[in-house]
Amino acid sequence: MKWLYSLIALVAVQVVSANPTPELAKRASANDVATLGYATLNGGTSGGSGGSQTTVSSLSALTSAVSGSAKKIVFISGTITGNTVVKVGPNTSIIGKSGSSLVGVGLRILDVSNVIVRNVKISKVLADAGDAIAVQNSHQVWIDHVDLSSDRDHDKVRYDGLLDLTHGVTGITVTNSKLYTHWKASLIGHSDNNGAEDTPITVTLASNYWYNLNSRTPSFRFGHGHIFNNVFDNNSDGINTRDGAQLLVENNVWTGTSKPLYSTDGGFAVATGNDFGGASNTAPTGSFTSPPYSYSKLAASAVRSAVVGSAGQTLSF
Ligand SMILES: *[C@@H]1O[C@H](CO)[C@@H](O)[C@H](O)[C@H]1NC(C)=O
Ligand SMILES: *[C@@H]1O[C@H](CO)[C@@H](O)[C@H](O)[C@H]1NC(C)=O
Repeated sequence: MKWLYSLIALVAVQVVSANPTPELAKRASANDVATLGYATLNGGTSGGSGGSQTTVSSLSALTSAVSGSAKKIVFISGTITGNTVVKVGPNTSIIGKSGSSLVGVGLRILDVSNVIVRNVKISKVLADAGDAIAVQNSHQVWIDHVDLSSDRDHDKVRYDGLLDLTHGVTGITVTNSKLYTHWKASLIGHSDNNGAEDTPITVTLASNYWYNLNSRTPSFRFGHGHIFNNVFDNNSDGINTRDGAQLLVENNVWTGTSKPLYSTDGGFAVATGNDFGGASNTAPTGSFTSPPYSYSKLAASAVRSAVVGSAGQTLSF
């Protein structure tokens, strides 16, 4: 019998140590390139695909590994803490290994192009350091399977944005990500008087899970935004289309907000196939009906089960 107990023990250990939700562990490669949305245009977004690979587990190693313009893939391992934002060079993929996280450390993608951020978990970046992820004056950026949060135990100025896309960014795709438990989630377009720079903005937001946020889910000024197959739960405000923004809002799902999609200062939206959770869209109808790329979308009724469990840091690297 002893061998049988040993066998049972061995099997039990393997079951316990396996991914608790193996059906959600997605096959992904460090060399993957963007395949959806605006990031696929203008030559596409390949980040560091095909370049050197390094693994970092300290703030100083991360900071130096992601700098410079050579093609590179940088894996984050373990927990890296600090109170700063790390500037990312062009032609870079930053990939979080399973269980890794940045605490108090954000990423700043400034004045560059061709960057991929995948499977990275970032929390509690203080406002005096910056946003969890800020993309400014940059082009061709794919953000996928990131997990961004802080807390709402403090006032709303302790933290700034989770994902701010400003200063004329184009070719941005954000997919399969989780944004939660925070005051001001995502500012797209810098300010009301920044139309000259921000009108070209192009952003695709698909299959993301947004919950327990106060505002900016997102706040979108001036540019074009394609927002589809997202789930929004218990956020005080919904999508705010502003300052002439043209949004195409398709097949998303909301619960727990009285204003899922609304306009201020003349923002527009074309909204189809959404489940507003009993509330209504109050934004005026715009002119953006078809993005300049092909894509497929799930019906709103299929979105929650497809998105909620797989958004965030659920890839295996
Ligand atoms: C990014 O890589 C390409 C080649 O892959 C190179 O031509 C370009 O100079 C790099 N970008 C920067 C800003 O150095
Ligand atoms: C949203 O709020 C409802 C009611 O309080 C709660 O049951 C549910 O768990 C919340 N969902 C999330 C994702 O926070």
